[in-house]
Amino acid sequence: MLIQLIYVSSAVRLLSEKELLELLAQAREINRKSNVTGMLLYGEGNFLQVLEGEAEDVDAIYAAIRKDSRHHHLYLIVREPIAARNFSEWSMGFHRMSTEELHEPGYAKLWEAGLDGRRASAAPAIAIELLREFASR
Ligand SMILES: Cc1cc2nc3c(=O)[nH]c(=O)nc-3n(C[C@H](O)[C@H](O)[C@H](O)COP(=O)(O)O)c2cc1C
Repeated sequence: MLIQLIYVSSAVRLLSEKELLELLAQAREINRKSNVTGMLLYGEGNFLQVLEGEAEDVDAIYAAIRKDSRHHHLYLIVREPIAARNFSEWSMGFHRMSTEELHEPGYAKLWEAGLDGRRASAAPAIAIELLREFASR
């Protein structure tokens, strides 16, 4: 069964460019082996990530992600079956949101909602929209 899982979290401290690239390289290698795809957004110390793939693969990777000491305050927004992948082109797409982007009127609202776990759970479409917006850049 193909599923999609989306969560938000906060980095324990601001990550350097090098640390982010290392994290991504590691994630992409594992995801490729498990045929897991997705997108990761990072902005001002917060993460919003979607993972998609076979349920057992996604759940195993999310279990590892949850134990990762580089971030905390994980909040699961969505875990549900999907008919087809939305991010099939990326083992893990990535976009670091600039301060300007975070404060653009349109995105500011989305990002805020995307990172407020409870609000995002009530409106997961907003989180998906934000992830897709930056995946297509
Ligand atoms: C924000 C964030 C996103 C991550 N995304 C992924 C990912 O998509 N795939 C992945 O395999 N690991 C990802 N990781 C790394 C995992 O947490 C973990 O370090 C990695 O899967 C290796 O796990 P292991 O040490 O238990 O083998 C991510 C870590 C963080 C902090």
